[in-house]
Amino acid sequence: MNTMDRSVGIPAHVKSAKLRNWVTEMAELCKPDSIHWCDGSQAEYDRMCDQLVKAGTFKKLNEKKRPGCFLALSDPSDVARVEDRTYICSNNKENAGPTNNWVEPKEMKATLGKLFDGCMRGRTMYVIPFSMGPIGSPISYTGYEITDSLYVCVNMKLMTRTGRAVDDALGTSDVFVPCLHSVGAPLAPGQKDVAWPCNPTVKYIVHFPEERLIWSYGSGYGGNALLGKKCLALRIASVIGRDEGWMAEHMLILGVTDPQGHKTYVAAAFPSACGKTNFAMLIPPKEMEGWKVTTVGDDIAWLKPGDDGRLYAINPEAGYFGVAPGTNYKSNPNAMITAEKNTIFTNVALTDDGDIWWEGMDGEAPKHAIDWQGNDWTPGCGRKAAHPNSRFTCPAGQNPVIDPEWENPKGVPISAIVFGGRRSTTAPLVYQPLSWAFGVYAGATMGSETTAAAFGNVGVVRRDPMAMLPFTGYHMASYWDHWLTMGRKVAQPPRIFCVNWFRKDKDGNFLWPGFGDNMRVLRWIVERANGGARALEGPLGYMPTYDCLDWRGLKFSREQFHELMDVNRSEWMKEILDHDELFIKLWDKLPKEILSVRELLLSSLWRSAEKWELPDYAQNS
Ligand code: GTP
Ligand code: SPV
Ligand code: MN
Repeated sequence: MNTMDRSVGIPAHVKSAKLRNWVTEMAELCKPDSIHWCDGSQAEYDRMCDQLVKAGTFKKLNEKKRPGCFLALSDPSDVARVEDRTYICSNNKENAGPTNNWVEPKEMKATLGKLFDGCMRGRTMYVIPFSMGPIGSPISYTGYEITDSLYVCVNMKLMTRTGRAVDDALGTSDVFVPCLHSVGAPLAPGQKDVAWPCNPTVKYIVHFPEERLIWSYGSGYGGNALLGKKCLALRIASVIGRDEGWMAEHMLILGVTDPQGHKTYVAAAFPSACGKTNFAMLIPPKEMEGWKVTTVGDDIAWLKPGDDGRLYAINPEAGYFGVAPGTNYKSNPNAMITAEKNTIFTNVALTDDGDIWWEGMDGEAPKHAIDWQGNDWTPGCGRKAAHPNSRFTCPAGQNPVIDPEWENPKGVPISAIVFGGRRSTTAPLVYQPLSWAFGVYAGATMGSETTAAAFGNVGVVRRDPMAMLPFTGYHMASYWDHWLTMGRKVAQPPRIFCVNWFRKDKDGNFLWPGFGDNMRVLRWIVERANGGARALEGPLGYMPTYDCLDWRGLKFSREQFHELMDVNRSEWMKEILDHDELFIKLWDKLPKEILSVRELLLSSLWRSAEKWELPDYAQNS
């Protein structure tokens, strides 16, 4: 029983009537023991981390090896985004489209109303003011997350700009996105809490796009719970962007500086756990002297037309929530350095000396560790020490190659957009679709083998349009139409490219070294986007020949390159049949251009040989 006046927890400096009313109403519904309004200070963060340690949620790591770092192990039922429990509750079903789960909003609110009623009993309700984008900037969006999870509070502190300055910037305005979150695990009087409270059976991640409202229940993990990220900055923002004429995309943003000092910005959409963080912080091979990559963002881009007819991108986030396994000082040194301090690790293994470990980290595996489920682990025990979707949360400012413009509220001008899936066959290393419309087609039909970043099967090819399948807040075909519209609106749209780092040989080995060597492809992309670099017209678009790429420091033969660049006609015919399946599903709103491009692609494939051989020509011919 709790009869406290729940408005008591709202500080006097909070002036927005809509905000005060919403928080009061939600407190009446959720019935927490108390309300804590987060001020976003370092002192508050430290106190919260202490409290998480006391609660057993956090383990403080060795201060000498990992200063300011903590480890959290989640409930085994709560390890990734739950796409089948994610809903877009637009007023009309047609506006959510066939790729989203939909329930009539009133019905969903009735369901959620029952679940949220009393869901915070025995807990504190935290109110987190946050800004996606620099605080007070005209391009930023303000959100308020109500949560009963301290773990969420500290992660939001790293991932967004939070605190008192957000309240002050909002002032009396009623423009903010209300985000309600509960782990769905109320405590009866005297009931002892568990280390990772969540609801193991009932989870709902729900968006009301017309109201710009988010309700999330039952999960405390990643994108399910840190509502500024996928829920606000992608699903809700994609709807706002459609209405206002800009784009919210699942893209990294990077800057490439050439040896002459000329800077080009590139955005790239790869599905979850397909290498965005790696690409965003890439270190070029040392032989490619003078080339440098800097990071603007590693997961989300908001792209807006500038007055000069170019598309400008900002990263709305302030931190990284990166995939741990496979990250090491060789594959991604900058991520390793970023996560050396002030980092929260989730679901990785704990070593005997109070450090962390995961599969694919540098050096030998420890002889003993505590795995992500809290059990003893030894090499060869047959279990993974870290969960495949284990992650590190760290402040972006710690990235040694952070771009100096990363917080510029104007954004950075984008010259190239790259699409890339995880395909062990069919898709070549790189090509450039012939035009914006061909590029939109390529993005729209992007396929990728599924990863551990979402709950479900791993390794099957699924269509993941623009890497936005789980993140588009409206009808997928209308989203493609918005892309086509943006291409017409922007005087100088970026050039579009497609890459695939993941093609394999018959024995299942990657054909391409990847990681830093992706710079060789990126150099060609940047030079193409700037009007230079040669290419041949292949069946899918422009392709570099062997001599177009910078091979300094890598032994990679012409034959190997051709295997990687092969466009096989029968494979691509099958591929297009698979595109058709998606088009039929989206038929009611499918833009005309999509089918026209398909026809042109088919005709160029038809005319090409069964095994299209990339011709050679020498650099100076
Ligand atoms: P989300 O944060 O889930 O959106 O994903 P992300 O795209 O940022 O994923 P991330 O960069 O963390 O990808 C991690 C996975 O991609 C790891 O398994 C890496 O080993 C793998 N990876 C990244 N770059 C490459 C590459 O160039 N080649 C190969 N073969 N694997 C790569
Ligand atoms: C993704 O799955 O694309 C992520 C991780 O970036 S999460 O924030 O959990 O969605
Ligand atoms: Mn992501």
